Amino acid sequence: MESSNKVALVTGAASGIGKATARAFVATGYVTVAADVNAHEGDAAARELGGEAGGCHFLRCDVADPASVRTLFAQIDSRFGRIDAAFNNAGVEGLQAPTDECTLDNWDRVMGINLRGLFLCMQEEIRRMLCQKEGGAIVNCASVAGLVGLPGIPAYTAAKHGVVGLTRSAALEYATRKIRVNAVCPGAIETPMLQRFMGESAGAREAMLATEPVGRIGTPDEIANAVVWLCSEKASFIVGQAVAVDGGWTAR
Ligand code: NAI
Repeated sequence: MESSNKVALVTGAASGIGKATARAFVATGYVTVAADVNAHEGDAAARELGGEAGGCHFLRCDVADPASVRTLFAQIDSRFGRIDAAFNNAGVEGLQAPTDECTLDNWDRVMGINLRGLFLCMQEEIRRMLCQKEGGAIVNCASVAGLVGLPGIPAYTAAKHGVVGLTRSAALEYATRKIRVNAVCPGAIETPMLQRFMGESAGAREAMLATEPVGRIGTPDEIANAVVWLCSEKASFIVGQAVAVDGGWTAR
């Protein structure tokens, strides 16, 4: 326990990487706000992670909706009065189709959640951290698709490249004001999103494993550990980085 009285926010905390990261923040001693658009799953996740008595509070938020984001942060203000660490993680994979078949609806949905939604949350976080003498740390969830092209998911890849760009710009804007902004770029991680992405076909997992330098898919905890570390004082000189946590996938 090293962070008592500090407040962490995780968006998309009902499932997968977000849930694992909320668990890791709770274990590190943060009062943790687990936000998600899915109230049923989000509430269940927060209860599983200890509930309010254990320092894990569910708040519903659709990051694609500016009014919902404003409400989330108003609730954080009134209930906790500060925000020290934030993991902007909520995301969707969208439809798989090449660029010429990517519908405008899919483009707008993926951009609206993965990039615009992340931007809206980050703005609110920065505004609050600027008013705290201790500043704060923000980690944005990009992807290896924010570092290299991934055929078949153009909107997702564009959004994640956008997340990396936003991260670098914000990191430079606030570097002298005690706010550190970084991104994590997960490779293939065992979550419901990856299962949806791979679909039902038996060969899809084997095909994916064949491209993994370490010969396995990553775990949500492996991303959570990187995020909590990036938010800690141990990462005090790490600013504006897009940290690949991908078992070597982008080292090729
Ligand atoms: P997941 O599908 O298991 O969890 C995503 C969570 O985000 C869900 O709880 C969902 O309800 C929530 N969410 C979706 N739209 C939302 C919205 N509008 N507002 C608030 N919450 C919303 O997915 P996973 O795998 O845990 O993904 C988390 C993040 O990690 C995403 O940003 C994803 O792009 C990224 N990522 C995942 C990889 C993987 O292999 N699983 C690889 C690279 C990046």
